[in-house]
Amino acid sequence: MSTIGQTKRTTPTQIEAMKGTRPIVSLTAYTTPIARLLDPHCDLLLVGDSLGMVLYGMETTVGVTLEMMIAHGQGVMRGAQKACVIVDLPFGSYQESKEQAFRNSARILKETGCNGVKLEGGEEMAETVAFLTSRGVPVFGHVGLMPQKVNTSGGYRSLGRSDEEADKIRRDAKVIAQAGAFALLVEGTVEPLAREITASIDIPTVGIGASPACDGQILVSDDMFGLFSDFKPRFVKHFAELAPTISKAAEAYAEEVKARTFPGPEHTFQVKK
Ligand code: KIV
Repeated sequence: MSTIGQTKRTTPTQIEAMKGTRPIVSLTAYTTPIARLLDPHCDLLLVGDSLGMVLYGMETTVGVTLEMMIAHGQGVMRGAQKACVIVDLPFGSYQESKEQAFRNSARILKETGCNGVKLEGGEEMAETVAFLTSRGVPVFGHVGLMPQKVNTSGGYRSLGRSDEEADKIRRDAKVIAQAGAFALLVEGTVEPLAREITASIDIPTVGIGASPACDGQILVSDDMFGLFSDFKPRFVKHFAELAPTISKAAEAYAEEVKARTFPGPEHTFQVKK
């Protein structure tokens, strides 16, 4: 088989080796066309289970299924050429046992062709992360705010202000790094703690709402495109305002259809004489 002409995809090992070089650029992606647009600019694309909320209008990520993640993972892999593509293990697909986590990770890797999986959890997941990584599954860890635990954690808020909370996140980060994760997503964590964790572990931290002290940054792409203008958390910056642009396009279309000015002659098939 020839590989001539094929672009090389960034591997989890290369992402890990980026620590201390330059910030890792990462965004979520859920579909082929968006992956195609983001890929040239990103080191890592995450098919996040945030897709449940962003694409499907769910209130939390808890309802997302393995089948949804695989379908969107396949879509992103069709659009991305060079970024490292990681697919989230959804709630209920890995917490039961390390064997369940391996079985479902293997399905994701086989059926999407992606580079690895992400899972949420600290000390309670360390054994699972070690089990996966020692069996060939690259793992992107996720500590701090964990959206899959929203029903037991008391909602979405930044963490690490109390000593007890900070200690827990510190321990979580350490054990997940020791268990063999190639990188660690740190979500919703106060800056001094994110800085301390970043300095104390050997793998890169990728922050969302966790300050510029992390080794890289990630945002939910639809958030930074400005597709959700009604609620904007402090850590989100709109790098574009697509919601009003889309709304204006729909309004213009509706007006032209009603006025019969669309479709025009240039959009209409005629029979050649
Ligand atoms: O599912 C997701 O999109 C995430 C974000 C925190 C990046 O994990």
